[in-house]
Amino acid sequence: MDVLGIDFGGTGIKAAPVNTLDGTLTQERFRIPTPNPATPDAVADVMRQLVEHFQWTGHVGCTIPSRVEHGLVRTAANIHEDWINTQVDNLFSGSTGCRVSVLNDADAAGLASMRFGAGRGLDGLVFFITVGTGIGSAMFYNQQLIPSTELGHLRLKGGSAEDYASNRIRKEKDLSWKKWAKRFQKYLDRVEFLFAPDTIIVGGGISRPAKVPEYWHFLSTKSDLIPAELENEAGIIGAAAAAAP
Ligand code: BGC
Repeated sequence: MDVLGIDFGGTGIKAAPVNTLDGTLTQERFRIPTPNPATPDAVADVMRQLVEHFQWTGHVGCTIPSRVEHGLVRTAANIHEDWINTQVDNLFSGSTGCRVSVLNDADAAGLASMRFGAGRGLDGLVFFITVGTGIGSAMFYNQQLIPSTELGHLRLKGGSAEDYASNRIRKEKDLSWKKWAKRFQKYLDRVEFLFAPDTIIVGGGISRPAKVPEYWHFLSTKSDLIPAELENEAGIIGAAAAAAP
């Protein structure tokens, strides 16, 4: 069945109806720039506009870049602090008139990858690590999502790992790909030391085919290390797949 998937990102909020059986978009994606400030009410209004654009009345699945437990937002590392303690599923259901379920952005992108992308058919312990403004993580054991791992906040070099090895830091500090890869390697070492996954899938903007050759040869892991597919659409597809009744 089709579910409207919505991906709440730092610069844009993107939506498209998704066939949740095969992970394809059934209409062209529509994007609205993320409001500034991206308060809960401002974002809830964008959700309403997206639902109106598709004249949607069915189920909606939406991502959020924070820890969310049963629809309740717990953290706000890269989003407006007003989000903390917001019951986001109720907020978005109220503004759209649809039944909305919400999950963490990395969990959603990981889920899309496991069902329809690079993680298809992979058993054992698989981590999906998405690298962008922050670092997000999703953990799967034999394809089953263990939600809300938040491994972007592992301690690394005296702070949060995402403040040392994210793509935002690479840009802000104007690091060469080699220098940034050294940082990301330290992060991967930590993840492997703690969990010894069978496979690590790397997602986010840095997993685009044009970017991968810049740094992949600097990385070395005991786990199989593979770039994600579906990059731009992964959040939309995973959010929809998770919300399918
Ligand atoms: C948030 C995570 C999110 C990640 C990627 C982190 O700062 O805590 O919830 O998955 O950024 O957006």
